[in-house]
Amino acid sequence: MKISRRNFFLAGAAVVLPQSNRAAGPPLSLVTLSPNPKDLEMPVEGFIDEITPVEHFFVRSHSRIPEVRLPDWKLEIAGLVEKPLTFTLAELKQFPRAELVSVLECAGNGRIFYRPTVAGAQWRFGSVGNARWTGVRLKDVLEKAGVKASAKQILMDGADAPLGKMPKFQRTLELAKAMHPDTLLAWEMNGSPLTTEHGFPLRVIAPGWASDSWVKWLTRMEVLDHDFEGFWMKTAYRHPARHVAPGTAVDPADMIPVTDLNVKSVIAHPNEWALPGVIAMQGVAWSNASPVTKVEISTDGGKTWSRAKFTSKATPYGFRKWAFTWKAAEGSHILMSRATNAAGQTQPLEPEWNPNGYLYNAAQPRSVQISKTRPAEPAAVAEASTLPEPEGYKASCFGCHDDHMMSQQRLTRAQWDREVAKMTGWGANVKSEQRDSLLDYLAARYKP
Ligand code: HEC
Repeated sequence: MKISRRNFFLAGAAVVLPQSNRAAGPPLSLVTLSPNPKDLEMPVEGFIDEITPVEHFFVRSHSRIPEVRLPDWKLEIAGLVEKPLTFTLAELKQFPRAELVSVLECAGNGRIFYRPTVAGAQWRFGSVGNARWTGVRLKDVLEKAGVKASAKQILMDGADAPLGKMPKFQRTLELAKAMHPDTLLAWEMNGSPLTTEHGFPLRVIAPGWASDSWVKWLTRMEVLDHDFEGFWMKTAYRHPARHVAPGTAVDPADMIPVTDLNVKSVIAHPNEWALPGVIAMQGVAWSNASPVTKVEISTDGGKTWSRAKFTSKATPYGFRKWAFTWKAAEGSHILMSRATNAAGQTQPLEPEWNPNGYLYNAAQPRSVQISKTRPAEPAAVAEASTLPEPEGYKASCFGCHDDHMMSQQRLTRAQWDREVAKMTGWGANVKSEQRDSLLDYLAARYKP
């Protein structure tokens, strides 16, 4: 499942790509950000498809992926309900079936592009995909249990277990979102049972919202009459409610939970290199509950913009495909795409910086080389640092994950200090006399 982003060119895609989908072509390999916890990203070529095949769908995990056995599994509905209930999957399938197509996007998608850099999984474009989800309305299940009038939030719990002293991944949905007819509990993705990586046997579908609310391996829901105080609601997955100057600290009191996605678009083709001539540019755009109504393309780094045409329908929640014909002359060019939705939201040219790097949606410039021959692969960059590994590094930091988590970061010493504090809080054993040399090493090796 591994491929370097640089190596992947769409073979033979110099002039026109097949308009249908690329299912006939070779399957794409996902890019591994971290093997375990498993974080896999879709390369930009995957944005050719309106419905993302499961094999191309990004994977995001905070912890180990649980292997749920169906005979042992049930869903429990508890808390402020008239009748606490439990369901097997067969029992859930007795409710009226519900189905919809929706984008699933990680709140951190595009984090790598923020300046100053921020800590966290360094996603580029591809921690997003679009799938058909099948299951039941959450509302139907909650109404069967009888939600009490004092209900405010629904706490969601999965079968995944935390590592060390890391807080358990628990999230809440506001009652209005939980009772929305488009909020589902799904057991199928693109017509097949959910895979283990995508939450088998049951996950939450919160269309229009970032994927931190789409809890996987769902086992329990509890109706609460107050705001849940857990780490993944009160500390993580929060962003500023107002504009902040890049790099400034934000008072936690000014941070609100991530909910709705931002309007966004990605160019699938061309990528990095193409032959001169007429190029059928393609890609997708998406938004929140408000459908995408316009996509504009710039082939000169944002100086001029022209409208792309749509090749699929406007829907709430889903990918909308677009196409644009570009007469490409030899040379190096900066491509950009910019989407607008029915609510009038447009992708900004400058990103809205925030300390945790959530909901990036700037119209991201992409450079493409137009030439008669494919440019040579850039020579491998020599190791930037030959710093010796500090004593105890592996023992302190490789218990729950490997070096992938560290090597994808580009952080200052102060940021590394906060990361090490977070990890020691979760159970990393860093001896006080080793802490300075560990920070020196990380800050020198993985710096902005
Ligand atoms: C007790 C288990 C554990 C140990 C030990 C541990 N980590 Fe982590 N670390 C995690 C988990 C789990 C994640 C993934 C969190 C997520 O996906 O939200 C993570 C993520 C990270 C990240 C990505 C950014 C982030 O905050 O999610 C960095 C950087 C990191 N760890 C550095 C370290 C360093 C440096 C050490 C040694 C001092 C260390 N870790 C030791 C559990 C651990």
